[in-house]
Amino acid sequence: MNKPVDISAKQHAARAALSYVEEGMTLGLGSGSTAELFIELLGQEVAGGLKVRGVPTSLQSERVAIDAGVPLVEVEQVDHIHLTVDGADEVGPDFALIKGGGGCLLREKIIANASDLMVCIVDDSKLVEVLGAYPLPVEVDRFGFTITAKKIFDVLSAVSGSIPQIVQRLKNDGSQPFITDGGNYIVDCACSSFSRIKETAARLSAVPGVVEHGLFVDLARIVVVGTDNGADILEM
Ligand code: A5P
Repeated sequence: MNKPVDISAKQHAARAALSYVEEGMTLGLGSGSTAELFIELLGQEVAGGLKVRGVPTSLQSERVAIDAGVPLVEVEQVDHIHLTVDGADEVGPDFALIKGGGGCLLREKIIANASDLMVCIVDDSKLVEVLGAYPLPVEVDRFGFTITAKKIFDVLSAVSGSIPQIVQRLKNDGSQPFITDGGNYIVDCACSSFSRIKETAARLSAVPGVVEHGLFVDLARIVVVGTDNGADILEM
């Protein structure tokens, strides 16, 4: 899992991402602690007169946006998203991402894929040379969940050449399965490393019962990396 990080690095990344926001934009609002910092800062800009509207990627982000005073629009009312700003659990080569630590990967991917530009905001602990130290979240339908998990195991065994550890995500108190905003389960797949990212992504997507996986490939074009001292902008 990621090392603990000073909140200021995330704040620096969130603040730097504001520079991509323009008047009149429809914005995909990501999920997780870094994205929430961005939403709160965006709220301050809105209070100062900026006119934008947001499409949240989770119920939690929706709550944060409402509290921050960011105007929202129903996703079904949107035909164009200019910019999505979202966090990540890992950022690897070519800006391939692992996302879904908060369980919001399905909505995050739908919104990122529909956006003109995805800006990923992370602290510097998230940059890795090889994806996979962070267990890959995979969202699965509840029906046939055990069968689907076995098929995921088979795919990851084949592509990684190692034996993955696949566990069903539970709620924080450990008493019940974690349920996504869409009503599905999550399995977290520890594989130690993913080298064939696109093949892995395609093969996971092909498993019946897999609703979505947390490999985000060819989506982020800009990565803003927060450090204790500021933020670095990485562009494709
Ligand atoms: C939510 O499902 C995730 O994709 C988050 O974007 C990711 O876990 C990063 O979260 P933090 O910003 O809290 O590290």
